[in-house]
Amino acid sequence: MSVQLETEREVDPGIIVLDTKVPDKVIWPIAGGKGGTGKSTIAANLGVGLSLLGYKVVLVDGDLGGADLHLFFDQIAPPKSLNNFLSREVDKLEDVMLTTPQENLKLICGGNEMVSLANIPFLTKEKLKRHIKKLDADFVLIDLGAGTSYNTLDLFSLSEEGIIVCTPEPHARVDAYGFLKNMVYRKLQRHFSKNIPIKATIDRFARQGGRRTGRMRELVEQLLKQDPMAGREAVDLLATFKPKLILNQVRNKRQVDQVQRFIELVKEYLSTEMEFVGYVRRDTRFLEACERRRPLLIDFPKTSAARDLCDLLMIGLRIDDRLHRFAASHFRKMAEVAKASAKFW
Ligand SMILES: Nc1ncnc2c1ncn2[C@@H]1O[C@H](COP(=O)(O)OP(=O)(O)OP(=O)(O)O)[C@@H](O)[C@H]1O
Ligand SMILES: [Mg+2]
Repeated sequence: MSVQLETEREVDPGIIVLDTKVPDKVIWPIAGGKGGTGKSTIAANLGVGLSLLGYKVVLVDGDLGGADLHLFFDQIAPPKSLNNFLSREVDKLEDVMLTTPQENLKLICGGNEMVSLANIPFLTKEKLKRHIKKLDADFVLIDLGAGTSYNTLDLFSLSEEGIIVCTPEPHARVDAYGFLKNMVYRKLQRHFSKNIPIKATIDRFARQGGRRTGRMRELVEQLLKQDPMAGREAVDLLATFKPKLILNQVRNKRQVDQVQRFIELVKEYLSTEMEFVGYVRRDTRFLEACERRRPLLIDFPKTSAARDLCDLLMIGLRIDDRLHRFAASHFRKMAEVAKASAKFW
């Protein structure tokens, strides 16, 4: 492995998780624009990590048409999937939930068989979103597909704090930016769907969006002039959207440092505050574990990459700060439970 980041870290009592807030249920859609950045890998491992720490987790494969999350759980042909729910064969999402070797981690597989799934009708999508919100879990993680299809954008909008998984490559940043831009327009278009003049202005602006002048701030100024109330709503809408960014497959510290420029660009052009929540280094053991159809956290729980994932949960994503515990003790706990659980996988 050619990582030149920090070496394996020992107990660091300096890491204290702050900013306490424990909501009832956290929903994290995980997207990224570009294919192959590691969305599914991150979704599977964060889900497993949360379950190792004792949380009740549901992993949903929302990559409709390209579902493969089940492969991390040694499910080659899932007996049931979202297909059965979306085609109304069953009424509840729970009916298509699969167990995993972790008792508190459940899996809802995506459907690949139905061609029509790639663009599910509006009402069906709303029903799916309602049911996801009702799932009995501490955390619901939704693995989304590459690209900017309406399915992906609308499932990402299940939370204002969805996660973007990007790699250090410029192509990945371009695609992540494109995803966020589409997301912002989609939010505005849906919010103002019944306000015809405002929606027309947004659509017109979106069509010119490829130009260098297409800053979201300019659109908001136009809306404020046209209809001050609508303009203020647009300002509020943009202010509530706070996506999180994970940098995956990192090879050196310089790549992590470059993220700040991307965050500034998103703020400058899209008026969106994106938060960098951490990185996961590139490690061939992700692939090794994947080939065995298991998550890295189970097969290699004591590696630096596993520690990155733990830090992501404890520090970047601030999952449990009720007790201001140290991230290092969680890493030990996670690794111990992973070792004990591995025999069930
Ligand atoms: N941190 C990492 N280090 C090394 N390899 C990784 C890392 N993260 C993911 N990979 C590898 O990258 C490949 C793509 O990962 P994954 O399938 O999770 O991407 P994805 O974004 O979900 O792709 P898609 O867009 O096709 O859904 C896999 O072979 C996976 O093992
Ligand atoms: Mg994937």
